[in-house]
Amino acid sequence: MPSIQLLPDLLINQIAAGEVIERPAAALKEMLENSLDSGATEIIVQLEGGGVKLLRVRDNGSGIAPEELPLALMRHATSKIASLADLQRVASMGFRGEALASMAAVAQVTLTSRKTENPHAWQIQSGDGTQSEVIPAAHAQGTSVEIRELYFNTPARRKFLKSEATELAYCEETFKRIALSRPEVAFSLQHHNRIIWQLPTLPRSGDAPLASISQTSEASWENNADALPKRIEAILSKEFAQSAVLVSRKAAGLQLYGMASLPAYSKASRDAQYFFVNGRFIRDKIVAHAIRQAYQDILHHQRHPAFVLFLDMPPELVDVNVHPAKSEVRFRESQAIHQFVFHTLQQVLSAPTQ
Ligand SMILES: Nc1ncnc2c1ncn2[C@@H]1O[C@H](COP(=O)(O)OP(=O)(O)OP(=O)(O)O)[C@@H](O)[C@H]1O
Ligand SMILES: [Mg+2]
Repeated sequence: MPSIQLLPDLLINQIAAGEVIERPAAALKEMLENSLDSGATEIIVQLEGGGVKLLRVRDNGSGIAPEELPLALMRHATSKIASLADLQRVASMGFRGEALASMAAVAQVTLTSRKTENPHAWQIQSGDGTQSEVIPAAHAQGTSVEIRELYFNTPARRKFLKSEATELAYCEETFKRIALSRPEVAFSLQHHNRIIWQLPTLPRSGDAPLASISQTSEASWENNADALPKRIEAILSKEFAQSAVLVSRKAAGLQLYGMASLPAYSKASRDAQYFFVNGRFIRDKIVAHAIRQAYQDILHHQRHPAFVLFLDMPPELVDVNVHPAKSEVRFRESQAIHQFVFHTLQQVLSAPTQ
């Protein structure tokens, strides 16, 4: 057996990339989460070739200081946690400091960013384990991250990517999940310059400046009572919104809110089912079971409900860090969650208020 060796950084990052960003949609998710963490109120996504040729996310968030641009592309470099204690109560979407490093190992990455206080933007490029100098560039306040030719240097991975149409569909799904979770942020999605989604925020009354509201960022029913139903309607359809009930219930530190379809509106597949825990889209067996059970007596077993539901709970009662793409969670008290989701839905579905 050969002797034990430390793996070179590029190879480590390429291995991590396989887990963190198995396809363009996963890279898009990481980029959107970074933009949201930066306090952006407007996010523009531009794709080419289903996201394989080009993924560009532009935001108007806080930006990255020029001296930190090289760090942003390095593994385990993050501005979001500094200690193990931080890890227990992170409110931000990212904290491992490996998303951009992984992307830079398997694609050509360009970061362009400007902080408000700087007179102009700065840019860095990276690919195949090397980084360019940081050079001046033109950009409004915020950041653009550009990923070109995903997996250009790892052909075995690239072979696993599907057709352009399929990769685009994955990207769109990721985009919709994130746009649903943040109705106070404006989003748009373009593919080869064709606008696919344009999701504005609600026009606000004159006395409330956009920034002061959106910076509070935490999604909650109270913050989004107007914006959320509109965003849900824009993404799921008017038909859904018209035949869905509003859900909003608080009990024992838990809150469930959103919209769920009445039996008159059902689907042949599960494609219109969105469940978020503390603002994060997740799939969970216990939650899925609770929802199925709530619909059991009112929906034909071959039909599926449509819903957009948000469960908010104290962060220490749920571990979001059990899955590399953070799409699964572990509940500390799963039975209580099951009961809460089941009873809330069963009640609201049996006595719809509208
Ligand atoms: N759009 C952005 N706006 C402002 N800062 C950003 C943006 N994207 C990345 N950054 C900075 O770059 C750092 C590295 O980003 P990266 O996504 O690699 O790691 P992370 O978000 O800290 O953790 P994770 O790997 O879990 O996503 C972030 O901590 C942040 O400081
Ligand atoms: Mg990140």
